[in-house]
Amino acid sequence: MRLKNLFLLLLLVAFGCKNSQEEPKEKKELVMAKTSEMAQLMNEMYAYNESIKQQIIDGKFDNSFPEKFKNIHSAVLTSPSDRDANFESFSKLFLEAQKAVFESPSEDLTANYNKAINACISCHEVKCVGPIPRIKKLLIK
Ligand code: HEC
Repeated sequence: MRLKNLFLLLLLVAFGCKNSQEEPKEKKELVMAKTSEMAQLMNEMYAYNESIKQQIIDGKFDNSFPEKFKNIHSAVLTSPSDRDANFESFSKLFLEAQKAVFESPSEDLTANYNKAINACISCHEVKCVGPIPRIKKLLIK
């Protein structure tokens, strides 16, 4: 029990951001107590893309770009110093890729959707590696 908490703490320190994979209760409480505005937005973006993934697979995609995602430019981060020039350019690339999904002709939908998810991953490779295995599950194979 105590060892586990120590391990989780080390994980937080090692990644400089929360590694929020579906895991035991203790961890959930720890994460919830510290959820930043940005982490909340990220979780919403995750859930949203998970839902459109299914719509795309089912051939029932009919949504418009969630304007809320633009808050990636302003949401407060757990570590505010993460918001540097690099972060801003990854944010721009991501928003462009995500928007393209909603403007996509149906034959390019899967490819454009995967590009948007890969834009999530590109930023995460530099800024927050913890959630990458989870984000990869969003890709359409
Ligand atoms: C511009 C960089 C960037 C982009 C693009 C990005 N992320 Fe993130 N993501 C981060 C950072 C930084 C954090 C840590 C946020 C914090 O703790 O305040 C994070 C956190 C997360 C988390 C963990 C949230 C939590 O509860 O701690 C998930 C899940 C996540 N992102 C998924 C995604 C998904 C899915 C996308 C694309 C739809 C995405 N991210 C796009 C940088 C990015």
